[in-house]
Amino acid sequence: MNVTEAIATRMSCRAFLPTPVPEATVRAILDAAAQSPSGGNLQPWRVYALAGAPLAEFVALVRSRMPANPRGEGSEYDIYPADLWEPYRARRFKCGEDLYATIGVTRDDKFGRLLQFARNFEFFGAPVGLFFCLDRRMGPPQWSDVGMYMQSVMLVAREHGLHTCAQEAWSVWHRTVGEFLALPPELMLFSGMALGYRDEAAPINRLRTDRAPLEDFAQLRGF
Ligand SMILES: Cc1cc2nc3c(=O)[nH]c(=O)nc-3n(C[C@H](O)[C@H](O)[C@H](O)COP(=O)(O)O)c2cc1C
Repeated sequence: MNVTEAIATRMSCRAFLPTPVPEATVRAILDAAAQSPSGGNLQPWRVYALAGAPLAEFVALVRSRMPANPRGEGSEYDIYPADLWEPYRARRFKCGEDLYATIGVTRDDKFGRLLQFARNFEFFGAPVGLFFCLDRRMGPPQWSDVGMYMQSVMLVAREHGLHTCAQEAWSVWHRTVGEFLALPPELMLFSGMALGYRDEAAPINRLRTDRAPLEDFAQLRGF
């Protein structure tokens, strides 16, 4: 698989098979991705991987806390800017609509939407759950470095026949994540990520999101 194929076949997988991923594979992916660039080579990413018993224990802990806290604990950062404007607002809306359409959940089916959203907090059934953190004193440049590391993880995962779903949704359970992982106080959770083998039969995995044409975001001059 070349890089273009890895990019083209990566998608956000939201239903996984329970097939375990060997520790050596997870190590190889996280290690290869560390070749990602970062400003000043700070390598600000910190990653935690859960599988097996600790993963089951963690998911059960979050589930036990949901009834008292259906919206979670609140994110430590704004996942989106307030009052998102065009064209971003329409893109976000379409992505949600298209996602729920794959499983026949309509706009007014609030319960159906909530149920699907809650699947985030089971890593969509993936056998591996990853958490990406960074020192809370870091700024936007280092956040972008962590994003690059995450993208590398997602692409190398494709090389191993695996799929992923980045999950900012986990940020709303940042206290529980911090407590379970015993995160040092300076570390802040940015995002989770589900990792595993795609359930090819799951309708939700049929979603393929579109992209704006090159002319909308790139200007090439002097060619
Ligand atoms: C940092 C980051 C966090 C994300 N968080 C979530 C999430 O919490 N739950 C989810 O279902 N998808 C999440 N996504 C997936 C995006 O919705 C998805 O990447 C986007 O719609 C494009 O679709 P694609 O990944 O299938 O190409 C996240 C993506 C990124 C890059």
